[in-house]
Amino acid sequence: MTNAENSNETNAGFVDLSPSPSSLIESLRDIGYSLETAVADVIDNSITALSTSIDVRFSWNDSTPWLAIIDDGHGMNGAELISAMRFGSMSPLLTRSKNDLGRFGLGLKTASFSQCRCLTVLSKKQGEISCCQWDLDSILKSEDNKWLLRILATEELKQFDLLNSLSSKYLDSYDSGTIVLWNAIDRIDAGADLEIKESKFNEVLCSVRSHLELVFHRFISPDSGQSKVQFRFNNDELEAFDPFNSFKSTERPCADFKCEGQNIHVQPYVLPRFSRVSKSEWKKYEGQLGYLS
Ligand SMILES: Nc1ncnc2c1ncn2[C@@H]1O[C@H](COP(=O)(O)OP(=O)(O)OP(=O)(O)O)[C@@H](O)[C@H]1O
Ligand SMILES: [Mg+2]
Repeated sequence: MTNAENSNETNAGFVDLSPSPSSLIESLRDIGYSLETAVADVIDNSITALSTSIDVRFSWNDSTPWLAIIDDGHGMNGAELISAMRFGSMSPLLTRSKNDLGRFGLGLKTASFSQCRCLTVLSKKQGEISCCQWDLDSILKSEDNKWLLRILATEELKQFDLLNSLSSKYLDSYDSGTIVLWNAIDRIDAGADLEIKESKFNEVLCSVRSHLELVFHRFISPDSGQSKVQFRFNNDELEAFDPFNSFKSTERPCADFKCEGQNIHVQPYVLPRFSRVSKSEWKKYEGQLGYLS
């Protein structure tokens, strides 16, 4: 190829090879999230933002399902929100604060796109409301296939009934907070007929609920001195699921060691045997992989 033929050339000897947004995002959709882990990854951000209240709302909505994760954390202003929507918003090489559960600067985007084609984030900070949207189908349709993020002005927001109602129900009463809304959820048993899809949607959301009760159990029911986070799942309060059944299990001798300057305290438990638990407890604590696992 001659230099003249190569229209992408920026500097002698170099060629601008920015990834194609639509191809890259389509590929990133398959990096291994389930609905359970995707929701949990978005909630990690809410916890890092020091939320005390987190709502997961969802609806099958006559076969156009949506899901929203709403928190009362510190929120983002316009510039922070735009930066948050960037793939690779923060380098993994940078040191993060101790309570920051993030690492790659990707989770919000990759977790969301693993489940939906349209991600809208609305955030409130110091009275300012900001809203941005990545819509995979608009990116696909755009002629120049650029990383063009949609910024929704306050006036435009009025057209979005669902976002408006979530915002008035939650953010109006919060000093600050964030709504992450997934529309065009297209990963629910694709190909099945609508009735099957609806029951699959409800089934997988039950599993999301159990997953959240497990992975966030220490936030739902914290040790003394730690702050509590209230989780609601379509208005129903989540209950902590302590996989060790600590009240009934036998504590084994603990071990303490240091790793990268931090103290690690390990407390082993032996779960109670069959005769010491009820049938329902056995069922509850066996999880998906069985009691021995
Ligand atoms: N609910 C939220 N409240 C406040 N800030 C948020 C919220 N969600 C995301 N952010 C901001 O957006 C940034 C990008 O989030 P994202 O999940 O993509 O990456 P990360 O959390 O930095 O790392 P990781 O890829 O490991 O999740 C966060 O670092 C945070 O600054
Ligand atoms: Mg994150």
